[in-house]
Amino acid sequence: MKDMRHQLLEAALAVREHAHAAFSNFKVGAALETDDGHIVTGCNVENATYGLTICAERVAVFKAISEGYRSFRRVAVVADTQEPTPPCGACRQILWEFGGDLEVILGNLEGEKARYQLKDLLPHPFDARLLS
Ligand code: THU
Repeated sequence: MKDMRHQLLEAALAVREHAHAAFSNFKVGAALETDDGHIVTGCNVENATYGLTICAERVAVFKAISEGYRSFRRVAVVADTQEPTPPCGACRQILWEFGGDLEVILGNLEGEKARYQLKDLLPHPFDARLLS
C-alpha cells in the first residue's frame, strides 16, 4: 500500500515532464491507480485559446477510460509548489464521476505533502444517482 502510493507519486512526477504548459509554465502530473493495480498517467495539455486546456487529472481519467479501465482506487497529483496543488473543481467532478471516493495524494518535487478523500474535497456531489 505504502509502496503503491510511492509508485503513484513517482509516476506523476515523471509524466509531469511531458506537460504542455507553454502558457502558464505550470506543469502538473497525475497518476491514477486502477482497482487491478495498473497506473495510468496524465499531464496538463494547454491550448492557445486557454479555455481548451485540459488538466493532468482529466487526461489521466480519460486515458484510463479509453483503455477500458472502469474502477479506480487513488490518484496522485504532483506540481512544483510548496503548498500542494489540489485538483480543480472540474477535475473533482470528473474524478468523482469515474472514481467515486478516491484517495487523493498530493505531492511536489520532494514527495508527498497531503492526502485526502475525494468526498472531503467535493462534498454534496452532483452525480448519476440524481438522474434516475
Ligand atoms: N492544472 C492541472 O493540470 N491540474 C491541477 O490540479 C491544477 C491546474 C493545470 C491547468 C493549467 O494547464 C495549469 O495547471 C495552470 O492552471
